[in-house]
Amino acid sequence: MDYFTYIKGELHAEGVPVSDVAREAGTPVFIYSGGSFASSLTGLRDAFGVTPVLVCYSVKAASNLALLKKVADLGMGADIVSGGELYRALRAGIPASRVVFSGVGKTGREMAEALDAGIMMFNLESLAEMELLARVASERGRTAPVSLRVNPDVDPGTHPYVATGLRESKFGIPWGEAREAARLALSMPSLSLVGLDCHIGSQLTSAVPFSDAVAKLSGLVSDLRSSGASVRYLDVGGGLGITYHDESPPSPTEYAAAVTGAAGGIGGVTLVLEPGRSAVGNSCVMLARVLYIKRTPARTFVIVDAAMNDLVRPSLYGAYHGIRPVSEPSGGAPLSRVSVVGPVCESGDFLARDRELPPLASGDLIAVFGAGAYGFSMSSNYNSRPRAAEVLAEGSSWRTVRARESYEDLARGESL
Ligand code: LLP
Repeated sequence: MDYFTYIKGELHAEGVPVSDVAREAGTPVFIYSGGSFASSLTGLRDAFGVTPVLVCYSVKAASNLALLKKVADLGMGADIVSGGELYRALRAGIPASRVVFSGVGKTGREMAEALDAGIMMFNLESLAEMELLARVASERGRTAPVSLRVNPDVDPGTHPYVATGLRESKFGIPWGEAREAARLALSMPSLSLVGLDCHIGSQLTSAVPFSDAVAKLSGLVSDLRSSGASVRYLDVGGGLGITYHDESPPSPTEYAAAVTGAAGGIGGVTLVLEPGRSAVGNSCVMLARVLYIKRTPARTFVIVDAAMNDLVRPSLYGAYHGIRPVSEPSGGAPLSRVSVVGPVCESGDFLARDRELPPLASGDLIAVFGAGAYGFSMSSNYNSRPRAAEVLAEGSSWRTVRARESYEDLARGESL
């Protein structure tokens, strides 16, 4: 089902005309579809059928409390990478027992907070981190449940900034050192080795790297079990791609088949999934209003009120995001080649370059598609621009779930 469609010539989010949202909440604004978000998450879980699976939504993709509350209501968990994300997950009602803590640079303080909260497991990425966690846990008289994030050295075939499972990457314990790391973890009384983990990259459009990585990990599970570890979780990370333009990523069913097929031989494990982009990416549009049309001898610029501080993906990764006018263009509307840019003082500030778009004029609203994942969550106050509002649409109603920032918010905590 498509949650963002034109109804009577007007773009809707579920049953909500998005121009109503723009009028009341202003622009730029991120509009999430609650139905789309929930169905992406349940669709992924259900694709695994009878295989025991726990979906731990990757909070970094979009971390608004209202979205996290939906995750909690669905009985799912969270994949976090900071104390701040732990705070958000717990505040939204996600039980600590369904929280996995990933990331290469957890601090002692974050470890202590997560231990005190009683999280499900720490995904450890280095021996130095393992030693610190063992110390923090023993000082607190606790046993820390850990899983080893190993780097399976497979090529995810994705943008180099978001490939994480290659030998060169900073992530994970190198494949050749995983057994030694496991031996060490088993020898530490304040650690309990409960799982293995990998995350090989983001926006993967083929199932093959997933099955290669999971096959490697499954082999390791058997080895570790024979050395006395009671491995209960196989965390396969996130990374499933979505369609921004013309990509055709595996469907949840194809993805599930690849993962379960590769994990086939091992029993007694719960698969942990950490979807971010596939859960929320296409569950949101960002609305912006056209300020000016500026024609130069070289290009035509559509200058809008959203910029790289609101959605950095085009500037940072050269990412494609679909753009459509909120008022449905007529069938025969002529297309012209324009660049959609924001007010930020950088030539790298663009939402689309040399894009064929129907006619646009000052005051028109545009929708930027696929803005849910790493959209608002990577936004900043660059150029002292207050961050946008976030809105949740459900059926024919909508509400603001994060107020637009004010000028006072910009200077909060500062002093003269
Ligand atoms: N698990 C771990 C350990 C991760 O590092 C990530 C994402 C995920 C799960 C979720 O991956 P996903 O399902 O969203 O692919 N800002 C970039 C993407 C960075 C991904 C970072 N890690 C972008 O806008 O494309």
